Parts: sequence; structure tokens; C-alpha cells
Amino acid sequence: MTKRIILRKIKKFAITTDWRRAFGGKSKGNKHLYRVVKIAMYLAKETGADIFIVEAGALLHDIALPAGDDSDYLKNKQAARKVLARFQLNDSDIEAIAECVATHEGTVKPKTPEAKIVHDADVLEKSGILGLIRHTWKMANSGQIDPEKISRRDVGKIVHHIDWRKKQLQTSAAKKLHKKIDMKLCVKKLNKITPQISKLAKKAVITENIAKIISKKLTIDQRLKLARQLSLYYLRH
Ligand SMILES: [Fe+2]
Ligand SMILES: [Fe+2]
Repeated sequence: MTKRIILRKIKKFAITTDWRRAFGGKSKGNKHLYRVVKIAMYLAKETGADIFIVEAGALLHDIALPAGDDSDYLKNKQAARKVLARFQLNDSDIEAIAECVATHEGTVKPKTPEAKIVHDADVLEKSGILGLIRHTWKMANSGQIDPEKISRRDVGKIVHHIDWRKKQLQTSAAKKLHKKIDMKLCVKKLNKITPQISKLAKKAVITENIAKIISKKLTIDQRLKLARQLSLYYLRH
């Protein structure tokens, strides 16, 4: 089997898992994996990492989500190894891809160039207003916050996580991209839009549709930055 065919099969498996099994199928149709792959491929070209490992790692990085937790290094690694055994891959490719999956949440520092890239691509998705939507979505649908009763402390926790992830960025190429999409929202606006995001998330409204809804509450500059993140325009300009 050629690597291109293997990647096609991995893609089908990853998207099906993300849309049907993660969060009980509530995030069906979201484009996170598509964007992460594109960001990761951009970073791979900038840094000279192994493109096959990066693409496979980016596709599979959230593969442990159906089990409820994708931040634990060992659980991620085991989930990745189990999935990767389905495809005709050699042991070193399996380990290299599993390492990308295992460290993507930054709970263990990524060491290989490919793992750093997959990690950084995911951090860019957890940055700016898109990051606020995505992390609130995850918290609301994993029982970490009560979507109907978002406290200021909950909002603080979400913002703190986004800030923490930013500090874990590994590659200079990703740090440069981050500057284009980073966005500080004032506390007043955060306290206004985060409860709205969490209610929509609980109702299974996907990231991209939440973005459209909350855009009405943003300034033109904020709206433009969010649109750039969703379209990946910031990779080109
Ligand atoms: Fe994740
Ligand atoms: Fe992710």
C-alpha cells in the first residue's frame, strides 16, 4: 500500500471518529481536523519535518476524544497505537505518529520535529476567538462547566487555558503565525459571549456556526481575525 493510500484511509477513519464518535456525534461537520492538517503541512514545509508523519499525526491527533480524555500522554499513545495497527505501517512510523498524538495537548513537551508541529497546529486552533469558541465547546460538552451557568471563574479558567497553551508553542514559524491571530477580548465582552458560546455548544451547534452567530457581537477587527482563522487566510498573508 502506498503512503498516499494509507493517508486516505487514515483520513477517512479520523474524520468518521471526530464526527460520529467524539462527543457522541455532536461535533459532526466541524472542520477542525481539516484546518489542523493544513496548518501542520504549512509548518512542516517551513521546518523540513517528515510530511507523511506530520499529516498522519495531524489527522489522528484527537483520536482519544471518544474515550473522554485526550490530554493524557500514555492514554493518547495507546489509543494511537491501537488505531495505527489497522494500517500497513512499519513500527518506526507507528511510534513517530503516536508520539505526535500523545503530546498534542502539551501536557508532555513534544520532542520530535513532527510532534512539535502537530502540537503547534492544534495550539493555533486554540488561539484567538476561535480558541475561545473551541475550548468553551470542549468544556461544555465534557462536563467541565455547566453550560447553563457559566461563572466568571469558568470564563477565567478558559482564558487561562488558552494563555497556557500559547506559552507552549514550540516552533518559531507557529509563533509568527500566532501573532496574526492572537486577540485579547475585554473581560466584559468575554463574560457576555462565553455563556452564549457554551449554550450553543451544548445544543450541538458546531464551531463554524457558533462563529457566525457570535460575529454579530464582535468589532469589525475581531470579526476579520476570526474569519481569517476559519479560512486559514493567515497562512498566506
Ligand atoms: Fe485535543
Ligand atoms: Fe485538536
